[in-house]
Amino acid sequence: MKILVSGGAGYIGTHTLLPLLQADHDVCVLDNFSNASPEALRRVGRLSNKSFDKLEGSITDSAVLSEIMNNFQPEAVIHFAGLKAVGESEVIPLRYYAENVFGTIQLLDAMDQIGCKQIVFSSSATVYGVPDYLPYDEAHPLKPVNPYGRTKYFIEEIIRDWAATDLEKSAVLLRYFNPVGNDRSGMIGEDPMGIPNNLMPYIAQVAVGRRDKLMVYGNDYDTIDGTGVRDYIHVSDLADGHVSALSYAATHTGVEAFNLGAGKGYSVLEVVQAFEKASGQAIPYEIASRRKGDIDEVVANPEKAKNLLGWEARLGIDEMCADVWHWQSKNPKGYRD
Ligand code: NAD
Ligand code: UFG
Repeated sequence: MKILVSGGAGYIGTHTLLPLLQADHDVCVLDNFSNASPEALRRVGRLSNKSFDKLEGSITDSAVLSEIMNNFQPEAVIHFAGLKAVGESEVIPLRYYAENVFGTIQLLDAMDQIGCKQIVFSSSATVYGVPDYLPYDEAHPLKPVNPYGRTKYFIEEIIRDWAATDLEKSAVLLRYFNPVGNDRSGMIGEDPMGIPNNLMPYIAQVAVGRRDKLMVYGNDYDTIDGTGVRDYIHVSDLADGHVSALSYAATHTGVEAFNLGAGKGYSVLEVVQAFEKASGQAIPYEIASRRKGDIDEVVANPEKAKNLLGWEARLGIDEMCADVWHWQSKNPKGYRD
């Protein structure tokens, strides 16, 4: 199948390219490298031993989109491209709406130009907002609490309206929980620019000596040890979820949303402990005040994905930590090594 992968040079995109190429899909990546390195794609080529097309450009650029649609003629799009930092979205919300929401509108419009009718979209657990109940199922009300989350919510609604215009269209909205880990080879991985916002890359940089200590944001939450609980999902499992979603989109019409999570939560201190065990490195930490916008607990009910996509998470927290350490110790400065 011919698949256009927007944002395919990023963290989740590169990991998803591996099973797509392994399944002999014909792939074209569109990325503007605003948060990725071309080296990541070179390594995907080496790892998979497969070649694929790539084009540098933005999903906000209709000329680029027309060119890629007309030349490549994709049958489906996996849409990762966008900005993803929650804190930054509060500072420059219009940029988030422009890149994420307007970019998606341009992409859907370009798909219409060539009659491409299938899309798999990277949504997020942030669309749920403060939980009415846990674990979140897909019927939980959507009430995102920051501009980034609202871009995901608006895009979901826009995709629903797009799909409603043609009975043959199909869209799968994947609501990721907390993706961590990396391919077992240690050749590709998460390589945040600047200071990491997220827990796992921050811990990894402490372990490798790039940062002194971890700041644990709050130990007075209503959780097992007072620190925030999240549903961590190995990115290789998440990548496989996209292959399942593509098959689902190819055999069903209409729109379906799925949680991609493990269905089990770990506290910050539990993750620190698991990482210390996997790496043999001490992770010094200090308790700091709560981070604005954080909530006690985020855990998925992944039953729908299991029942309809035939997908479930296989890898646990120990494998996630071991794989992160493998990548980080082999590439202390990420792709700049
Ligand atoms: P990432 O930043 O590593 O990947 C996004 C890719 O899109 C990057 O390669 C970037 O260069 C590219 N990009 C950004 N704007 C673009 C544009 N206008 N045109 C073309 N390319 C553009 O992020 P990721 O972690 O791989 O996330 C992928 C998707 O999953 C994003 O949409 C993100 O919002 C979503 N998501 C991520 C997480 C997470 O914790 N990583 C959780 C939930 C949802
Ligand atoms: N945390 C720390 N110290 C840090 C970083 C994080 O204590 O330096 C804590 C947070 O307070 C939270 C937990 O670790 O309790 C996880 O935080 P992350 O920043 O790793 O992840 P979030 O759950 O805040 O958000 C992530 C992505 C979002 C995505 C969401 C989906 O950043 O884009 O998961 O659940 F939408």
